[in-house]
Formats: sequence, structure tokens, C-alpha cells
Amino acid sequence: MEIVHVSAECYPVAKAGGLGDVVGALPRFQQELGNITKVIMPMYRTTFLYKHDWEVVHKAGANLGFSWFDFTIIKEKSDLLGFELYLVDINGLLDREKVYGYDDDTERFCAFQIATINWINAWSKLPDVVHVHDHHTALIPFMMQHCYGFERLKSIPTVLTIHNAQYQGIFGWNKTIYIPQWDSWKRGMLEWNGNINPLATGIKCAWKVTTVSNTYLHEMRSMSNGLEPLFEYEKGKSMGILNGIDFKVWNPETDNYLNNHFDKTSSEAGKRANKNILCETFGLDKEKPLFVFIGRLVGEKAADLLPQAIIDSFNYIGRKMNFLILGSGENEVEEKLNQLKSISQKDFNVYIGYNEKLSHQMYAGADFLLMPSRVEPCGLNQMYAMRYGTIPLVRKTGGLMDTVIDLGEENGYGITFNEASVGNITHAIFRAVKLFHEKQSFHSLRRKIMELDFSWDHSAQQYVDLYKNL
Ligand code: ADP
Ligand code: GLC
Repeated sequence: MEIVHVSAECYPVAKAGGLGDVVGALPRFQQELGNITKVIMPMYRTTFLYKHDWEVVHKAGANLGFSWFDFTIIKEKSDLLGFELYLVDINGLLDREKVYGYDDDTERFCAFQIATINWINAWSKLPDVVHVHDHHTALIPFMMQHCYGFERLKSIPTVLTIHNAQYQGIFGWNKTIYIPQWDSWKRGMLEWNGNINPLATGIKCAWKVTTVSNTYLHEMRSMSNGLEPLFEYEKGKSMGILNGIDFKVWNPETDNYLNNHFDKTSSEAGKRANKNILCETFGLDKEKPLFVFIGRLVGEKAADLLPQAIIDSFNYIGRKMNFLILGSGENEVEEKLNQLKSISQKDFNVYIGYNEKLSHQMYAGADFLLMPSRVEPCGLNQMYAMRYGTIPLVRKTGGLMDTVIDLGEENGYGITFNEASVGNITHAIFRAVKLFHEKQSFHSLRRKIMELDFSWDHSAQQYVDLYKNL
């Protein structure tokens, strides 16, 4: 089977979050299952671009509204990622340092989608399935079915995976000209609550819709930023497939970012050595349990609750633990966390920014990972943490609920709580500190979580079975 993934992110080419991790791994596993797998993504100005060799495979132009743009498709020559990687170069629009966050993101991703299907339309042999990810690529199923220029693509099955329904890419009808000439009877396919809503369009037009965990699939019917009735209506064609993690990248025995490698049997010494480095670097106390948070400092991740939860932990549990935070996001949260540095007694620090290497070192050196998310479609951090022997403290939501069982339950191995609230987080920290001092159970738990199987094998096969059905 020939599978085409279209995505805004793909690790290690460009990553802003978990979408990048998934699109960097899933295609490789599908290729290993005997398929021809291609990933098409924008050409940003990233280090990966300059470090590898490329060949030009297609050059053409297209309209974005009334303006014309030229585009070039380049291919990474050696297929070093384990699948065919193609980048869409559109001068002035895509070739920027960041993936998102520009005022003209609507124009950028419309142009990317138009260039992508223009190119696919020029292939002599068409692919068996086109798999798009999140709102940045969710207009493609509409374009393939209802734009006059792409009649040839109409019968190719499309799959939309929703990694995060909070972001929908909404734009106004004044920009409708960005969508190549389309059948005006299909206006309803583009519309949601008075606007053009690319994610809603993808849900309506894709042959199949998947989300990245089962629990999130159900949650979206009651909590998806305005799309609830649509998810309810389209439930028949929707399914949840849990993400896996890529053991080639996330393996404490071989991880290039780590100074000290370890496996299950050497985890005690290995983790301690990694923790020591972190504590020295960030001025923390090596003897106390180390709690980390890694992620976007946004409401979705309940990052706004962290400063108070840390203060309450110090006040009510005592100065019995360290906190180290890595992330960036809302200014107010960043500021509050920065201010907390002044009350640190060698027990708090924060790194504001994005740092791939540090994230790996933190998964390896921490004792506990905090994930109090309000919304978490899947969540990869908790799985990385467990693979590296770090016990997760998670709120019971979305994929966190599907991957972490509380210690109090049969076969449990993590700490879970119901509400995204300061009280619930602080109580979870209290339970963790207690566990940390029960040395024997703590170490055997560590070994247990390192053995859990969160591999991609099963999920990659589930996607392939789904394509076959289509
Ligand atoms: P989301 O995609 O919603 O941000 P996930 O848990 O699926 O959440 O994935 C987040 C990914 O991004 C993980 O690989 C995590 O390690 C990484 N990450 C998040 N913030 C940072 C950061 N500031 N520095 C380095 N890596 C980060
Ligand atoms: C999104 C979600 C996250 C998920 C990731 C990969 O960014 O917020 O929960 O793990 O996509 O699917």
C-alpha cells in the first residue's frame, strides 16, 4: 500500500510538540510493515534542512486567492528517517524559523495544502490513502472532493487524525478565495458557527476520523471547543488509536542526549547519576525527590496552577522536594515561575524555552513527572517518563487516563487525580514524597514502569488495518 502523510510537523525535521513526535515515528513503522510511506511537510528554515542532502522532484505554481506563488518539492535523498520525506518550499511563506505563530498562518497553511495536492495530482500513480493531521492539513479532504481542479483525487480515501481539537484554524469568509475553485453547493462543508473552520471541514469530509486515545474520542463529544455536536454526529466514522512512543529515539540505554545510560537493572545508579548532573546544573538538592514538568506553559496543560501548587507544597508538605520546570508559553505563567526562583532554597528552578536535550535529561534524571493537564488528547511525556523510570503524576483525562493506572488500583503504577486544581496537584505531590521514602516499593515501581509496552507496533498496524478497510 502507498500511504501519504501530510503534516505541519515531523521530528527531527521540525517539532513544536507531540504531533512532531508522532509523524516522525508512525510512518517509519508503517514502512517497516511493508508499505511505501511518504511524509509531505512544509520546508521551514531548520537545522535539519541544512545538514542533509536534497533533490528537487517537482516545480510548479498555483494561486492563493488572487496571488500566484511558485513552489518546489524537495526530497531527502537517502530516506534516512525510514520513509520518504518531501518538503514543500514556498518562498516567503513557509521558509521561516518557527512552525507556527505568524499572523499569516492561514495563508501559509492554505498555500501548503494547495501545493501538496497540486503535486499529488501530477503523480502518474496515485497513492492508496492520504492521511492528514490536525487543522493545518484538514482542508485537504475537502479540496480532494469538492475543488474542480482535483477530480482525479476524489476516490482516494482520506484519514484525518486529530491530535488536538482545541486548535481549529478558524478564518473568515473573506478568505474563502484561498480555497481553489470549489463547488459552491458544498459551502456547508466549510462552515462551522459562521466561519470557515478547517478542523470541522476535515471531520466532515475525511473518510475516517481518528483521535489519539479512546478516552479523548469520548471526551470530545462533550468538550471540544465548540465542535461537540459535530463529534457526536460523526461518531460512526470516528475511532481512537493510542499513540505509541519511538524506542529508537526514547531509549535510556542509547539516548545520545544522556550522559549516563541505564536500563531496568541499572536504573537506580543510572538515574541517580543523571539526577546529580541536573541538580548541580540547576542548583537543586540531590537528596530530595525531584519533580519535573516539561511542556507548553498553557491553560490546556494546567501550567497556570503550577506556581501555587509549588508554593502550597512547600508550605503544607514542607521543603521536602525539588521542582524543575521546562517550558514556554503564556507570559503570565512564565513570569510567575521566574519569580518563584527568588524563594528557592535549592529546591526550585525553571528553564523558559524549548530544549530537546534538556527534556531527555529531565525524563532520565527526575523521580516524578507532573502532568495536571485540563485537556490531554494522548500525551507522550508520561510515556517517555515511564520508559525512563520516572513516575508520572497525572490528571485523569484523555490519553493520561488510558496510559496511567493509579497505584491504589490493581496493577497500578502511577499517581492519578481527578481535578486540575492546586489542591489535587499538591495532594498528588504529598503521595509521591511518601512513596519516595518507601525505598523498596519506589525502586521496584521504577523497574515496573520501565517495562511497560507503549510501542508503536500495535497502533501502526491499527492504522494500516483502517486504511485497508477504506
Ligand atoms: P503536546 O503535543 O500537547 O505539547 P505531548 O505530550 O504529546 O504534548 O508532547 C510534547 C512533546 O514536546 C514531548 O516530546 C515533550 O518532551 C516535548 N516538549 C514540550 N515542551 C518542551 C520544551 N520546552 N522543551 C523540549 N521539549 C518539549
Ligand atoms: C497533541 C496533544 C497531545 C498528543 C499529541 C500527539 O499535541 O496535545 O496530547 O500527545 O498531539 O498526538
